[in-house]
Amino acid sequence: MNDDYATLQLTEDGQLRNFISIRGLPKSILEQILDTAASFVDVGGRDIKNVPLLRGKTVVNLFFEPSTRTRSTFELAAKRLSADVLNIDIARSATSKGESLMDMLRNLEAMASDMFVVRHADSGAPHYIARHATPNVAIINAGDGRHAHPTQAMLDMYTIRHYKGGFEGLTVAIVGDILHSRVARSQIYALRTLGAKEIRVVGPKTLIPTAIESMGVNVFTHLEEGIKDADVIIALRLQKERMDSALLPSESEFFDQYGLTNERLKVAHPEAIVMHPGPINRGVEIASEVADGPRAVILHQVTFGIAVRMAVMSMSMGGREAERNAARRQQEAQHVR
Ligand code: CP
Repeated sequence: MNDDYATLQLTEDGQLRNFISIRGLPKSILEQILDTAASFVDVGGRDIKNVPLLRGKTVVNLFFEPSTRTRSTFELAAKRLSADVLNIDIARSATSKGESLMDMLRNLEAMASDMFVVRHADSGAPHYIARHATPNVAIINAGDGRHAHPTQAMLDMYTIRHYKGGFEGLTVAIVGDILHSRVARSQIYALRTLGAKEIRVVGPKTLIPTAIESMGVNVFTHLEEGIKDADVIIALRLQKERMDSALLPSESEFFDQYGLTNERLKVAHPEAIVMHPGPINRGVEIASEVADGPRAVILHQVTFGIAVRMAVMSMSMGGREAERNAARRQQEAQHVR
């Protein structure tokens, strides 16, 4: 499976071509994403907020699930790269008349699209699309079911590197609903690949997947023990829309045991930062005093997300171009023979 993810996401010479999962990607690619994003961070502060890297390319946003941050920052990222952007309104599209996902994509391919950015409630949907779409279209996963949210994980890695200088020696605690979190899974792969010292998952037993230790994490069911001396604390939202049974007593009881408050953060490293992928539920997984306090870098995560998404889009388009050029050279060589 890891090989499958590598083949699907990388060209023969190791460049990014699709971005479906952190799994299967080497450290060098993750570092290239972070370094490329660093080169884009100041674009948002310029008078003219764009660069010509994707001029003439067409990016299609396909969000089958609601989104504020991911959808907006993908659109801004594409526009800052000078691409043409098409936002498909799924609720008003012909899928409501029974058109299948693949038929919809074939029609969008016929419009000479270059990239599909896909959010879908079904785990594996972007992987499936990447296997079946034409080779001319790059597929970027904007979050699928419980499976993966790789650009979120990379903007989180960017934020951690920005505030902590790197990953070596870091203890990172991911707190809350781990069971339903595609973000947590992608963060764990990224933190492992980038060499964090210790990754902890913290939450009630019912919201921690069984055998998650095999991913190289330490499990804590007591909040203060889980965040003790942590350098980075990532709070996660309770994903009630994905809970099909009563996995926790009530939101107020969850806050009583696992909500991040200033008092509880006293056990963390004195310079610990607090992150959250959003949307936040104040008074459920995080108190307002923390979300709006000096340790929180939550809105910086959002800002960095634009640069990280610009990096992923420009790298995958570059990989596609390199792949097309290699195929053309091969065809020409065969023609000469
Ligand atoms: N973090 C995140 O994926 O937020 P949205 O659902 O608003 O995109």
